[in-house]
Amino acid sequence: MTHDRLLIIDFGSQVTQLIARRLRELNVYCEIHPYQSVTMNMVRALAPRAVIFSGGPDSVTREGSPRAPQELFDYGVPILGICYGQQVMMTQLGGQVDGGKISGGGGTAEFGRAYVEPKGSLHLLDGWFDDGREQVWMSHGDHVSRLAPGFEVYGTSPNAPYAITADTTRHFYAVQFHPEVHHTPRGAKLYENFVRLAGFKSDWTMGAYRDEAIAKIREQVGDKRVICGLSGGVDSSVAAVLIHEAIGDQLTCVFVDHGLLRKNEAEEVLGMFRDNYNIPLIHADESDLFLTALDGMSDPEEKRKTIGKLFIDVFQKHADTIENAEFLAQGTLYPDVIESVSFSGGPSVTIKSHHNVGGLPEKMGLKLVEPLRELFKDEVRALGHALGLPPSFIGRHPFPGPGLAIRCPGEITRDKLAILREADAVYIDQIRRHGLYEDIWQAFAALLPVRTVGVMGDGRTYDYACALRAVTSVDGMTADYYPFSHDFLSETATRIINEVPGINRITYDITSKPPGTIEWE
Ligand code: XMP
Repeated sequence: MTHDRLLIIDFGSQVTQLIARRLRELNVYCEIHPYQSVTMNMVRALAPRAVIFSGGPDSVTREGSPRAPQELFDYGVPILGICYGQQVMMTQLGGQVDGGKISGGGGTAEFGRAYVEPKGSLHLLDGWFDDGREQVWMSHGDHVSRLAPGFEVYGTSPNAPYAITADTTRHFYAVQFHPEVHHTPRGAKLYENFVRLAGFKSDWTMGAYRDEAIAKIREQVGDKRVICGLSGGVDSSVAAVLIHEAIGDQLTCVFVDHGLLRKNEAEEVLGMFRDNYNIPLIHADESDLFLTALDGMSDPEEKRKTIGKLFIDVFQKHADTIENAEFLAQGTLYPDVIESVSFSGGPSVTIKSHHNVGGLPEKMGLKLVEPLRELFKDEVRALGHALGLPPSFIGRHPFPGPGLAIRCPGEITRDKLAILREADAVYIDQIRRHGLYEDIWQAFAALLPVRTVGVMGDGRTYDYACALRAVTSVDGMTADYYPFSHDFLSETATRIINEVPGINRITYDITSKPPGTIEWE
């Protein structure tokens, strides 16, 4: 089955993947490609029904800054340009862009909330401006100073006279703001109108995805064997069950206990798989290997890369014992691909090396099967439902591949891990007891590399400080801290300090993402 496809050309915005999300919510299949890889041959092969240009950090006024292939404008499909994408369109189609503060020109930069007012009527804006104006999110240094021939203005803001422009004959649309972000509350409507104008059928559903993914896995793997790293998280579990549906016994799962798991995690994961599935499963207890390698290491990226490399070594070791094992399956998700530029070669800045994307040796000997790499977390959960995984398992909070290593900032020791495990267990128990688990995207304790003075009974204590984190999120890309009640926080702090020797101080982390990240490292 083929679907209408939409091509997103990524010019390096940190929020490009949110464009993909908005489109997926509309059941439209889309692919993001970094601008460097977009050639007309590639476009013709993908045969998109429409194209979106993302935002980006560069300035079109800089020589050598990113562009789209010029011929794309004659390809005959609708194009929507966003922020930097708008400026690329104007520049390549004969308009003018002036530099703002960032690129050294004198123009007006604009960051944050703005209000756009309508000018004339445009189908892209159907359902907008019901209240006379719309709130949008601006984030630009440069601005368009002269429209390209054929374009007209359909919306303005105080600092962006060309906030919304279009050439309706060619179906080219260009907006200065970011309709994909939460701070443009009704931005999704613009994407909905755009795909409607472009004639999309909106036929990309999870059921369709599952069938196509199974067919693709069979084609890729043939009669070879696959080993799959199970972490106990939702992603690798869904990947394993999906691959098992596709190739049955050709799949062997390896559950690596790196000594960085949460309390009772190994038992829970192994139990879930053994009770529900008939998948060959190896339990690899490699905690000594990992903890010895991490000994004395405190740099977050060094820790991540070390763990990623050891995972691969362990998989390779097990693969060597399985005849014809040629593939390694991973539950890599789309945000992992996007956030680890080391993999995609895309233009955005690396934030963290997610271990299941970065850190793979060039000569691994195993080819990758990554059936979820186009999906966001909530889509993986929907796929998990479609595959019949137990709801309690699908609802588990995400747990990162590097495990407690990145929740123990600084050096890791077995003692610290043991303390952290207990504190985390009490915290999660509190959240469950108060019926809050489902409302929270992810909650965990982090053991800080700081000891503080306290007083318990008549004695002085000098123990670790522990930070509690809980966030709400849709896909882990952005997050808000969870607003626990003071009663909940003080009850939890008291329980942890009373029940967990080694901790005498609790803090609650109230940082959102951005500017923080969810994990501490
Ligand atoms: P950050 O800390 O980047 O995390 O805001 C976003 C989400 O990703 C999870 N995470 C990881 N998951 N391997 C994973 O499988 C990793 O290396 C990794 N690092 C972070 C994190 O728990 C959160 O859900």
